[in-house]
Amino acid sequence: MGNKVALVTGGLGGIGSEISRKLSSNGYTVVATTFNKEIEKSDEWIVAQKKAGYDFLVEEADVTSFEACGEMVKRVEDTVGPVEILVNCAGITRDGFLKNMDESNWDAVLSTNLDGVFNMTKSVLDFMLSRQSGRIINISSVNGQRGQFGQTNYSAAKAGMHGFTMALAQEVARKGITVNSVSPGYIATNMVMAIDEEIRNDLVSQIPMQRMGKPTEIANTVGFLASDQADYITGANIPVNGGLFTSF
Ligand code: CAA
Repeated sequence: MGNKVALVTGGLGGIGSEISRKLSSNGYTVVATTFNKEIEKSDEWIVAQKKAGYDFLVEEADVTSFEACGEMVKRVEDTVGPVEILVNCAGITRDGFLKNMDESNWDAVLSTNLDGVFNMTKSVLDFMLSRQSGRIINISSVNGQRGQFGQTNYSAAKAGMHGFTMALAQEVARKGITVNSVSPGYIATNMVMAIDEEIRNDLVSQIPMQRMGKPTEIANTVGFLASDQADYITGANIPVNGGLFTSF
């Protein structure tokens, strides 16, 4: 393992695992985080990754808890090393029409996908500021850019991540810290495969490239933003969506 630390929330997930692998291949010590309900799966995940040649550390923290995030980041800084890269990748869906949406499904998505970004970023920021160096990469979504039928909660949270990214990028630009977001389209992970097959096929038929994306295609973009090659990029959003939503 290298001694530069990358922290990846949701690091055991479909996209998060590939981001963890990419950053590990690029020489980072990767701490993948997960929350309490998933922690029992982490041993299995670590073993599987080890077989594939990757060494990861796993930390538990519920991103909806500011206190838990703060404690976990401090633990990592104290016991592993300085966090140079934070990838906010923890995210959930609770899809449904707004007219049928319980308050709990709104709250769960906003607190995980958006409050989680605040809780984690705020926890690493003082450390990064004290070193005048850092990379924050937020994994948003095409559906935060264009809105998606059945996802008022998710689209609102993911759009909120863009606002957060653009505002924070300006606050810390002079402090050697860049803040960017990546907006995946429909990527072949369990989250997307859980969509009803007929609806999913219809969604894929709307993608100009006529296929879902691969988790590695997101990880490659994150790897680029984390690298020296992206030194002058901040406050940006990089869409990786097969042409599903185009803008400038
Ligand atoms: N635009 C307009 N109308 C639509 C529509 C759309 N995109 N999609 C469905 N409708 C219409 C249907 O035609 C149907 O109309 P009728 O009643 O007149 O026949 C009506 O809305 C009901 O649609 P469903 O049968 O789909 O309703 P449902 O209750 O079974 O399902 C839903 C609702 C759960 C929201 C379902 O539509 C769904 O899963 N949609 C996909 C949501 C989605 O894309 N989620 C992404 C998850 S992955 C992710 O989020 C990762 C990422 O970042 C991309």
